[in-house]
Amino acid sequence: MTAQLETTAQAMVADGKGILAADESSGTIKKRFDSIGVESTEDNRRDYREMLFRCTDAMKTCISGVILFDETLRQKAKDGTPLSQVISDTGAIPGIKVDTGAKDLAGCPGEMVTEGLDGLRERYAEYYELGARFAKWRAVINIGERIPSRTCLEANAHALARYAALAQEANIVPIVEPEVIMDGPHDIAQCFDATEAALNTLYDELYTQRVVLEGTVLKPNMVLSGTDCPTQAGIEEVAEQTVKCLKRAVPSAVPGICFLSGGQSDEDATAHLSAMNAMFDCPWKLSFSYGRALQAAALKAWGGKAENVAAAQAAFTHRAKMNSLAATGKWNTELEQAA
Ligand code: 13P
Repeated sequence: MTAQLETTAQAMVADGKGILAADESSGTIKKRFDSIGVESTEDNRRDYREMLFRCTDAMKTCISGVILFDETLRQKAKDGTPLSQVISDTGAIPGIKVDTGAKDLAGCPGEMVTEGLDGLRERYAEYYELGARFAKWRAVINIGERIPSRTCLEANAHALARYAALAQEANIVPIVEPEVIMDGPHDIAQCFDATEAALNTLYDELYTQRVVLEGTVLKPNMVLSGTDCPTQAGIEEVAEQTVKCLKRAVPSAVPGICFLSGGQSDEDATAHLSAMNAMFDCPWKLSFSYGRALQAAALKAWGGKAENVAAAQAAFTHRAKMNSLAATGKWNTELEQAA
């Protein structure tokens, strides 16, 4: 069992490849579609996601896995092929978001805890049958006056570890995602401290709950200045602080770290990742698991119109290629503009 988990986890962070996060919940995908004036129907969601998964060249060369929402794992492409098969035909691995969202944490104003553990063992068994070989669970950690609290860090780490242990029992690789949110006026040092505390708490709990680190992938935030902070750290400082924080807290048994984009611009998300890989030697692979930073340009180019599919696929392919270069530290602004 451990061998299969390790093989899957290593494939998820294969050289120059990263993960496409296409697991927007019903509420989130509606927000994305609202931004382009498209109604969020089951068919429109299918058409949009099928369009991405059929970017065969980008999928084959840049994408190791795709995180899906429950609906998508059960959906069929227009020609009747299950979407999970469209993905696996490109060599990418289908994965599934299993948490049911972050809710207010009782007694802790401004903080949240992620739900979704009830019945999870049975859901994993079904997801495995449907082709999922990895899973995702996202914890939300806000920075503010005297938060994150220990209560919040421990509640979320405990849930992440229970989720991860159950995933491994089902032969599914858990992506553990403790997301320190970038919104707010905090500076990069506060983000560093919150991220370090969240990761230390998480790895402590993963150890307690007997999770095999070699069969996991970490999906963290980068260490960034808050979006409303008057001084914004530059690319190299973000790369330095992020790697420093990860080296303190993430055991080298973890095969790979795939960042979330979290609201960074497309190019910042790429530049930060590339700088980390170019500047530092690390014990784990550093790659991407981007949602917005891989999809935003494609979503806009598509606009819900069949005649825009080729342009949208070109936009997605471009971002996938830029991030693939970043995953080996070989991206630069000239390559960005040349394309
Ligand atoms: P973003 O890259 O848009 O932050 O999404 C990644 C993700 O899956 C968050 O859970």
